[in-house]
Amino acid sequence: EPTLGELAAAKGRYFGSATDNPELSDAPYVATLGREFNAITPGNAMKWDATEPQRGQFSFAKGDEIVALAQKNGQKVRGHTLVWHSQLPSWVSNGGFPAAELRSILQNHVTTVASHYKGQVMHWDVVNEPFNDDGTFRDSVFYSTLGQSYIADALRAARAADPGAKLYINDYNTDGIGAKSDAMYNLVKSLKSQGVPIDGVGFQGHLALQYGLPSQVQQNLQRFADLGVDVAITELDIRMVLPADSAKLSTQAAWYSDVTKACLAVSRCVGITVWDYTDKYSWIPGVFPGQGAALPYDENLAPKPAYAALRTAL
Ligand code: XIL
Repeated sequence: EPTLGELAAAKGRYFGSATDNPELSDAPYVATLGREFNAITPGNAMKWDATEPQRGQFSFAKGDEIVALAQKNGQKVRGHTLVWHSQLPSWVSNGGFPAAELRSILQNHVTTVASHYKGQVMHWDVVNEPFNDDGTFRDSVFYSTLGQSYIADALRAARAADPGAKLYINDYNTDGIGAKSDAMYNLVKSLKSQGVPIDGVGFQGHLALQYGLPSQVQQNLQRFADLGVDVAITELDIRMVLPADSAKLSTQAAWYSDVTKACLAVSRCVGITVWDYTDKYSWIPGVFPGQGAALPYDENLAPKPAYAALRTAL
């Protein structure tokens, strides 16, 4: 029986999972992670608070652990993430730095982290979540101090540090066509026209049954591909209001299939990553109380209807 990773590879794609350091002591979990997936994203290990908790003091132990596991398993790594408003240490967010200094802090962070992982990372989510849901730029410390130029600065620094990594901008609620994905589209178009290095756009795919499947996912992916960038589904999970029941699980399975088919229909859609693979380690219940059961394996690491649907779709 081919695995999800093997099925995706047969179509020239990858099928990945996020993972996190505390989970790596769970042997059955690690076994399925290593067997079923051909790419890994560190869920937290490469974020700013993990990699530069104090100014100029870099810490790569957690990220290195996940890269080493991926290499042992023959899996690719999606680097996640260099510049993000969240999980940003307070020395950055509350630092009150003038623009020139914040720009150099940002460039130094991107350069140091991307240089450390040079040659070991297939993609970098260079900038994560730059937009509000209405398509305006999110008022992060980077945007409020530097304006949108921080995005080009981060991309250029990442390119210089690791010319072999594909550089992505990643966001959520951009999976279908709407105000937020229009804003991302206009940003990517503008970056391309200015010669800023941008290779891909990540669509997180944090979906919820109660909100409906986003419309025109395939058309949305295709319009980005037509700008000359790769696209990827980077953090797929499909949550529901608990308790789960067989009707919800079967709708969830159909959505996993639909998203997978949308990706496969777009030649530049290079792969899909689930935001961890088992409900045992999903971030959803902690952040969306009363919701969960979002992943293709249940809390006992048993495959759910979504797993079979993914296999059929791939
Ligand atoms: C989540 C992690 O999974 C959690 O462990 C952490 O507590 C918060 O962040 N969008 C992203 C991811 O880009 O980095 C987030 O990951 C989920 C939402």
